[in-house]
Amino acid sequence: MDNRSIGVFDSGLGGLTAVKEIMKELPDENIVYFGDTGRVPYGTRSKETIIKYSKNDIAFLLSLNVKLIVVACGTVSSLALPEIRGDYKTPIIGVVEATADAAMHTTKNNRIGIIGTPGTIKSSSYERLIKQKNSSIEIFSKACPLFVPLVENGHFDTKVAELVVEEYLEEVKKQNIDTLILGCTHYPLLKNTISRYMGSDVKLIDAGAETARALKEHLDKNELHSKQRGGAEYRYFVSDNVDGFESLGSMFLGMKINGQVEKIDIEKY
Ligand code: DGL
Repeated sequence: MDNRSIGVFDSGLGGLTAVKEIMKELPDENIVYFGDTGRVPYGTRSKETIIKYSKNDIAFLLSLNVKLIVVACGTVSSLALPEIRGDYKTPIIGVVEATADAAMHTTKNNRIGIIGTPGTIKSSSYERLIKQKNSSIEIFSKACPLFVPLVENGHFDTKVAELVVEEYLEEVKKQNIDTLILGCTHYPLLKNTISRYMGSDVKLIDAGAETARALKEHLDKNELHSKQRGGAEYRYFVSDNVDGFESLGSMFLGMKINGQVEKIDIEKY
């Protein structure tokens, strides 16, 4: 039993897709969220920069004495986590393993699409894991660099979002896949638009939701659950203006977070 908070971070709003699922799956857990809104996007940056940013983000959450860290970011999970995980005693859970597993269990025709940031797609993180376990699965991947700025600017289900989705997914759609991994935690915010374009035969795998399930298993196995019942506390931190994050975050989480978001100087950590 451990009543300390779970730390969750991402480059911006995207990690809230994991937070929402964690709130559903584990309603008694306190959560501290950090969105690096001053330095978003991560997915187009070099591996060195992503590692540097990730170390700041982890150091900040550790300064709040969290019991565990969820890297709610496909890019950090793919590029930084394999290099830095061993430097910390606190358990750190990324999004790639659980998401790749879920896709493998979902596909019936062994044809899986993967979309993510340029960094994630270039790293082949999802692809490698899937191929290791089942080499007969065919993978079709596509980097979608404009999806993150769309989401950060509130374009979840708009005409602009529709156009960009069509532009990026046209090739993927032709591949007769039955499963599509949303390999970036920002992408579930575009779920309706992506799903409408891909059609109902293609199952979308949400990295945030799969990671929330993996987190629950980890807490079960290591007896790390909080003892409190109800009244979980949620705190949010960002590295730039709080306003945009408060309004889009409230809309997406379906609960008002206005007045609960604090700005910090992440470069200090
Ligand atoms: N949401 C993150 C991911 O899953 C980061 C996206 C970005 O900042 O480019 O990859």
